[in-house]
Amino acid sequence: MKRQRGVVERNREFCGTNAVVTGASSGIGRATALELSRRGVDRIVIHYRRNLEGAKQTARECGELGAQPVLLAADLGDFTAIEAFANQCWNELGVIHSWVNNAGVDVLTGEFAALDFGEKLNQLLQVDVIGTIHLSRLVVSRMSEQTLELPASMAFIGWDQSSAGMEGDAGQMFGPVKAAITAFAQSLAQTVAPKIRVNVVAPGWIQTSWGHTTSEYWDARARNESLMNRWGAPADIARAIAFVSAPENTFVTSQVIEVNGGWNRRYDR
Ligand SMILES: NC(=O)c1ccc[n+]([C@@H]2O[C@H](COP(=O)([O-])OP(=O)(O)OC[C@H]3O[C@@H](n4cnc5c(N)ncnc54)[C@H](OP(=O)(O)O)[C@@H]3O)[C@@H](O)[C@H]2O)c1
Repeated sequence: MKRQRGVVERNREFCGTNAVVTGASSGIGRATALELSRRGVDRIVIHYRRNLEGAKQTARECGELGAQPVLLAADLGDFTAIEAFANQCWNELGVIHSWVNNAGVDVLTGEFAALDFGEKLNQLLQVDVIGTIHLSRLVVSRMSEQTLELPASMAFIGWDQSSAGMEGDAGQMFGPVKAAITAFAQSLAQTVAPKIRVNVVAPGWIQTSWGHTTSEYWDARARNESLMNRWGAPADIARAIAFVSAPENTFVTSQVIEVNGGWNRRYDR
């Protein structure tokens, strides 16, 4: 579509579809909601837990791009809230074509940063693994009852270093957590095909809250570990999520796509 002054340029590949993005009040989730809106999604659930202001900002920007946003809050560490949230999504949207499981606990900055290793791991397991699995099973069960022209899509967020491993507490927390959700997604893909496609996008170093406040050492390391010599931006991940979620990409399922600017094997710390 040709760009014109005052007219929003929209790629139409999500036109006529509805989507849900969990954890869309900031970071990768917000960028994903905006990318899907830019690509023509009709109605989109902006899920958040506590950051209402952030969720409202995402909703406002999605609206400016032509989508109709719906704000829904739920703590994905709580089974009752998860079940209510899944029901609310269907009540609001009627039909759901694309679901993005992005929400994840931030244990590096904010309220959980002061917890000890075991408490952080517990938070991550409760939300990023157990809650996300519980929610996903409810969602695919509802999606399986829908009659759609093209397969529905579910996307998960992994981590590029989860299988090879990274030294230290962060590697020992995020490694098993993101490996677990990746393994779950792969089994889900096997279970729900061909009606639903399931894929994982595994980001590298993406500059969200922690990346903006981290030490010189981690800043340099994040840049240098990528062949592109920079931090990833939330929008880099959002574009990959949009690719795996796009309704017409019907032959893309059971994939784990690393989006990290290419791992730099030449970098010597
Ligand atoms: N940034 C990276 O380098 C990187 C790398 C690999 C993977 N990831 C993964 O990518 C995803 C997004 O990360 P991000 O960096 O964009 O993080 P972020 O900006 O901290 O966003 C996290 C989102 O998850 C929501 N959330 C947190 N705890 C929740 C809970 N208990 N229940 C429901 N929602 C909850 C937050 O909601 P509220 O703020 O509204 O409470 C927020 O919307 C996460 O799964 C993360 O593990 C990130």
